[in-house]
Amino acid sequence: MEAKVVVVTGGARGIGRAAALRFSEEGYAPVILDRDAEAGAATASFLEAKQAEGRFIQADLTNKAEVTAAFERILSACGRIDVLVNLAGGTFHKGAIQDVTPAQWKECLDLNLKTTFLCSQAVIAAMKPAGRGVIVNTASNFGVTGGAERTHYAASKAAIIAFSKSLATELAPHGIRVNTIAPGLTGTDRVRGKYDEDEWAKLSGGLPMGRAAMPEEIADGIFFLATDESDYVTGATLHVNGGMVMP
Ligand SMILES: NC(=O)c1ccc[n+]([C@@H]2O[C@H](COP(=O)([O-])OP(=O)(O)OC[C@H]3O[C@@H](n4cnc5c(N)ncnc54)[C@H](O)[C@@H]3O)[C@@H](O)[C@H]2O)c1
Repeated sequence: MEAKVVVVTGGARGIGRAAALRFSEEGYAPVILDRDAEAGAATASFLEAKQAEGRFIQADLTNKAEVTAAFERILSACGRIDVLVNLAGGTFHKGAIQDVTPAQWKECLDLNLKTTFLCSQAVIAAMKPAGRGVIVNTASNFGVTGGAERTHYAASKAAIIAFSKSLATELAPHGIRVNTIAPGLTGTDRVRGKYDEDEWAKLSGGLPMGRAAMPEEIADGIFFLATDESDYVTGATLHVNGGMVMP
């Protein structure tokens, strides 16, 4: 049988890389979309070395023309897209509200929310005629609790939850499910690199389960939301956070 195609945005690193690997281990054909050419190529080679399928397309997913071109390339190469996992995102600056510049605000909203909007819009053009498909978007614990000095990031992640619920309602009659994964503290290089050993031990040790998540554990949740194991689940937010918040 032809392998199902999963597009993983931000799949060059971190949770996205773990998700691409998980899907390839389960027989899917992952396509990684990421702006980081070096890390993207390295992840694609890593997948190939494991005899798994793995394609990489470089794109800045805040740019509509690049998103459109990337999805056209995928469709002409693979002929189908079964799953979209929107993971490109993150926060690169924290700060008190008076210090957040309009440029920083826009950068954060674009990186998290606009990429999710543009990639969803692009994939729906292919999924609607097929009458099936799954989209998994990425929020964060901060999208439900808010977080001091993370106003832009928390606002973008809360918006992703509302966006996903709206899209789930709109697309259910078309056989397309839309859900949200909300990771808690997860030990990706980007996040881990913000703290020294002591700070990290204190932060992760203070969580109810006494440790941060591994990227693979978030990938497990994403995989559940993407497969028929969850075929009656849409508009939901799955919190994978070791008890950090229980909304
Ligand atoms: N790690 C955590 O603790 C944590 C917690 C909650 C939510 N999240 C969310 O999970 C997602 C992944 O986080 P991560 O820690 O794995 O991040 P990461 O930085 O390890 O990976 C993000 C990837 O996105 C890519 N990317 C960034 N901007 C892009 C753009 N404009 N176009 C295309 N690609 C782009 C990066 O190159 C990178 O490969 C993010 O949405 C983040 O907000 C992470």
